Amino acid sequence: MTGDMRLGVLGTGHMGQALLRGVISRGGVAAERVIVADVRRDVCDALAGELGVRIAADNDELVANSDVVLLCVKPQVLFAVIAPVAERFGPDTLLVSVAAGVTLGALERAVPAGTPVIRAMPNTPSLVGAGTSAWSRGRAATTRHGALAQGILGAVGVAYEMDESALDAVTAVSGSGPAYVFHLMEAMMEGGVKAGFDPALVREFVLSTVSGAAALAAASDVDPGELRRRVMSPGGTTEAAIRQLDDAGFQTAVVRAMGAARDRSVEMARAFTSSAPSK
Ligand SMILES: NC(=O)c1ccc[n+]([C@@H]2O[C@H](COP(=O)([O-])OP(=O)(O)OC[C@H]3O[C@@H](n4cnc5c(N)ncnc54)[C@H](OP(=O)(O)O)[C@@H]3O)[C@@H](O)[C@H]2O)c1
Repeated sequence: MTGDMRLGVLGTGHMGQALLRGVISRGGVAAERVIVADVRRDVCDALAGELGVRIAADNDELVANSDVVLLCVKPQVLFAVIAPVAERFGPDTLLVSVAAGVTLGALERAVPAGTPVIRAMPNTPSLVGAGTSAWSRGRAATTRHGALAQGILGAVGVAYEMDESALDAVTAVSGSGPAYVFHLMEAMMEGGVKAGFDPALVREFVLSTVSGAAALAAASDVDPGELRRRVMSPGGTTEAAIRQLDDAGFQTAVVRAMGAARDRSVEMARAFTSSAPSK
């Protein structure tokens, strides 16, 4: 089903490119059925040269030539991007937004009544086919539209349909989540070098350790807490390290950080909903 659609990717930044590359390489969508638009024409030119996608002259041409419009612009500009092309939407054009904090209700009010809308929350590992996404259907989106969204997001990782009320928590866990892990990796690289590790090799060791730990956790039937305890022998090196993390409030800080991400998502949804134009 995904293979038959004409896909328009509006906004070819980090997330737009991740999804675009995924659907072409793994989602069974032919590059010639994909059209892209971005204010950064150089990026579109590079994508057309590399992947063979078509470039729309403008956003209007993109929407007019798409069965599914994947809207991948920043939430702050989203309504200004939709407004001039809103009339191009309708029952035959599915709008999939990946914008954090922009609700289905606000999206539905920005396009003509009856337009199927899906709100998705992907993450950047989608770029390497290891994404984690959740998506929710608007009032006019049918199971067929859901299957199209699942086809796009599932091409770049795992994807789940969820109630929209869950998306703020999804943002805190998987949307922003890669940044928490990258932050840990930054700290481990700094700590490794300070501990005397070869700076030329530290990145490789940290990457391999983090991906190895994730693979072990995925393959285990015990939770990460038990896996951590299995590394910690009494009086040993890991126990000394974990004591430092506990003294610094590591777990509390992570829990608070995720609460802040969730709260910000709620706050953004409120702000964008109150500023969203109505058709
Ligand atoms: N990055 C993540 O981890 C992540 C995770 C989940 C969801 N998201 C969502 O994904 C969306 C995109 O995020 P991103 O990180 O990919 O942002 P990004 O890299 O800035 O990409 C957005 C692209 O849209 C372009 N653009 C701006 N105005 C436009 C217009 N009028 N017409 C066409 N293109 C326009 C931007 O150009 P300029 O740079 O010149 O403005 C940029 O190339 C956001 O809504 C975000 O909430 C991102």
